[in-house]
Amino acid sequence: MKGPKITFVCRECGFTSIKWLGKCPDCESWNSFDEVAISEKPRASASPISNNKAEKFNELKLPTYLRSKTGMQELDRVLGGGLVDSSVVLLSGEPGIGKSTLPLQISAELAKNRKVLYVSGEESKGQIKLRAERLGIAGESLYLLTETDIDAVLSECEALKPDVIIIDSIQTLSTMRFSSAPGTITQVREGAASLIGYAKGAGAAVFLVGHVNKEGGISGPKVLEHMVDAVLYFEGERTNSYRIIRAIKNRFGSTNEIGVFEMGDKGLVEIPNPSEVVMAERPKNTSGSCAGCVMQGTRPIISEIQSLVAKTAYPTGKRTADGFDHNRMCLLIAVLEKRMGLRFYENDVYVNVAGGIHLDEPSADLSIAMALISGITDRVIPDDLIAFGEIGLSGEVRAVSHIEYRVKEAIRLGFTKILVPKKNVSAMLKVPDNVELVGISNIYQVLLHMRQKEKEGNMPT
Ligand SMILES: Nc1ncnc2c1ncn2[C@@H]1O[C@H](COP(=O)(O)OP(=O)(O)OP(=O)(O)O)[C@@H](O)[C@H]1O
Ligand SMILES: [Mg+2]
Repeated sequence: MKGPKITFVCRECGFTSIKWLGKCPDCESWNSFDEVAISEKPRASASPISNNKAEKFNELKLPTYLRSKTGMQELDRVLGGGLVDSSVVLLSGEPGIGKSTLPLQISAELAKNRKVLYVSGEESKGQIKLRAERLGIAGESLYLLTETDIDAVLSECEALKPDVIIIDSIQTLSTMRFSSAPGTITQVREGAASLIGYAKGAGAAVFLVGHVNKEGGISGPKVLEHMVDAVLYFEGERTNSYRIIRAIKNRFGSTNEIGVFEMGDKGLVEIPNPSEVVMAERPKNTSGSCAGCVMQGTRPIISEIQSLVAKTAYPTGKRTADGFDHNRMCLLIAVLEKRMGLRFYENDVYVNVAGGIHLDEPSADLSIAMALISGITDRVIPDDLIAFGEIGLSGEVRAVSHIEYRVKEAIRLGFTKILVPKKNVSAMLKVPDNVELVGISNIYQVLLHMRQKEKEGNMPT
């Protein structure tokens, strides 16, 4: 009889090789290969073939997904309206960002009418109790288990029959059935597969907390992301207390939505109006600053774009973009140089999106271009002016989607001059009398508009 077949599997991406490699040829990570023994069992010739039959689409029954509110609207929105029963959600993020805090906070709300089991393989009961005390969490049907053996966790689940299971973290779980260490591809895949199998069978919702690797990707096999129903990613900067949850994948909702929180000593607090928080810190009457608006799913978020244009000490100027794609910034600078004759090449250019929001929508182009024009000409853009529109290579300003939402949000925050793409201006777009809506068809008009305002004496030079 043949012994088990030995293969080597990359723990980062799942690449397999018949011999050990120092560097993975697929994901290029170093020292990431684990030895895995696979015993190949021939399929018993007498094994019954599944008798699944194809069914007509029209005759299929619609399933009713039960969604539980997590008590945090920001999280519910990212999940697509709440936590779906028998779904598996992977929550990952950098160390110390709040991956243990968030599930603990929502478990208190869920435990009001569901049975919740919190499984921790990372911290002791005392540590978790201390955190729960700090966050003010208590609940009659909230259970805690500190365990790292997946089989023990599953047998406890069988006995307790929880409706929601939180696993902190999937990398700490392991099974004696495999000899590899916890966190290796075999263990993570096996742990996740057993939990997913249990969740689908018992109708329980499972939250898996996952670590990230040093490049910031979700640690463990890529296959883990394919196995679960939703992948949520915690973003945030060490320098500020704001945290953003973004769905990378969601089988039950959109992936465009974000949830914004602030981390404090009482845990994560929701920020339902992120625009207000960002704009509250905006400096007044400074050049190089312009307000813009991007859509995050169904929600418009107003953010401040700052630019600093300073004479360079080097033969070629430095360009840095924070919260915005670097290549897109270079493209906008090239458009401004070519179409408007602005001499950015003599300068270092820094662009920053205030508040840690990442602008990944072309509608931010116009506000970035205006911040750059303001930065290089040292002209101040009025605080009550906001601009949004996509810029093409000829300097034309192209129409953007969801214009009504953006204009409404801008008016709500007190902006009275709204620069929008000309194509978006229509009779349908109504604004109050004190608000001026200006249609722009070319980036050149921005400068004309700024100069006109200066002549009127409305704008400091
Ligand atoms: N007393 C406190 N006051 C304010 N913030 C606190 C306090 N204690 C912890 N925090 C915040 O909580 C964060 C830790 O949260 P949490 O343990 O949920 O993170 P994590 O992502 O689970 O970390 P790990 O990767 O170590 O498991 C800290 O980085 C800190 O920002
Ligand atoms: Mg933790």
